[in-house]
Amino acid sequence: MLEAQIHSTNFDFERYLEARRKLVEDRLAEYLVEQEPAKLWQSMRYSVLSGGKRLRAMLTLAAAEAVSVNNATTGATANLSENALQIALPCACAIEMVHAMSLVHDDLPCLDNDDLRRGKPTNHKIYGEALALLAGDGLLMLANEVLIEHTSKSVASANLLAVALELSRATGPSGMVGGQVKDMEFTGAADDKFDIATVESIHAGKTGALIRFALWSGGKLMNGTEEQLTSLYRFGEILGLAFQITDDLLDVTGDAQTLGKTPGKDEATKKATWVRAIGIDGARIKLSEMEAEGVALLEHSALDNRDAPVLKALLKYAIHRKK
Ligand code: IPE
Ligand code: IPE
Ligand code: MG
Ligand code: MG
Ligand code: MG
Repeated sequence: MLEAQIHSTNFDFERYLEARRKLVEDRLAEYLVEQEPAKLWQSMRYSVLSGGKRLRAMLTLAAAEAVSVNNATTGATANLSENALQIALPCACAIEMVHAMSLVHDDLPCLDNDDLRRGKPTNHKIYGEALALLAGDGLLMLANEVLIEHTSKSVASANLLAVALELSRATGPSGMVGGQVKDMEFTGAADDKFDIATVESIHAGKTGALIRFALWSGGKLMNGTEEQLTSLYRFGEILGLAFQITDDLLDVTGDAQTLGKTPGKDEATKKATWVRAIGIDGARIKLSEMEAEGVALLEHSALDNRDAPVLKALLKYAIHRKK
């Protein structure tokens, strides 16, 4: 269904995804050249350069392009896009580093205790728990370093400062880390011990905050208007929530080969998920509502690029993906 929807727009989304993945991965490899202490860098490289959809990075790049192209009064679209990509790429990579860090820690025995990630043994299975912990710490700060060092010449200081501040917020206690703590608190909870509002609040933190930041930051780096930034922020909230509903559904309906991680874990450990809160059908209904809301928002805010409706395609990808 996804294929048909996207191809009807005359835009080759599969090729787009492939090209963007390569762009992000080549740059990540440059930022993660192996150095001393070798084991630490090997461990960080293992978890960052190990595949993954690169969805968050793509969202940042797409938001930056959308704002840049929509706000320009002159200039060829291709040149504007290229300029936006170069400006937003370090931030996109920083987000992938924070995301990889969150996965390394999420998989540790003291959290979700997972052995398989992106089709390979989890970081601590290869490097041990101590190094997995420190590789996560290293990635967290490297993300900040990369963002600031490689964006300071191309973006006004006030905008860069705002982006760095929001990255800290999205990652820390009021964002991802806070969400992970709530997720942990509700692990093992009986069905009647949590409701939809609880699940929504856990997911807005553990997954939503970074996805929302990914979209907003692309716009902020390109000096987007308040109206554009508000739309990107709201679109990020919708996409983030939808993304995690899909993750919860795939845990029940997916297989290890396709997912690259072990399915069935949420039920086994009694996580507060959408599926446990409202069932598979309920979660699917909620997803289609989110999809409609996201598409309507893009249409009303005129944020998407008319020639290549990338943000809409990325929303559908986040929802209809199989892994
Ligand atoms: C997995 O994220 C963790 C969640 C927040 C649900 P992704 O599904 O984006 O993982 P990769 O990066 O593609 O491996
Ligand atoms: C992970 O959520 C969220 C973060 C890593 C911050 P999950 O625990 O549901 O992710 P998976 O299913 O292990 O990828
Ligand atoms: Mg988890
Ligand atoms: Mg997990
Ligand atoms: Mg999950």
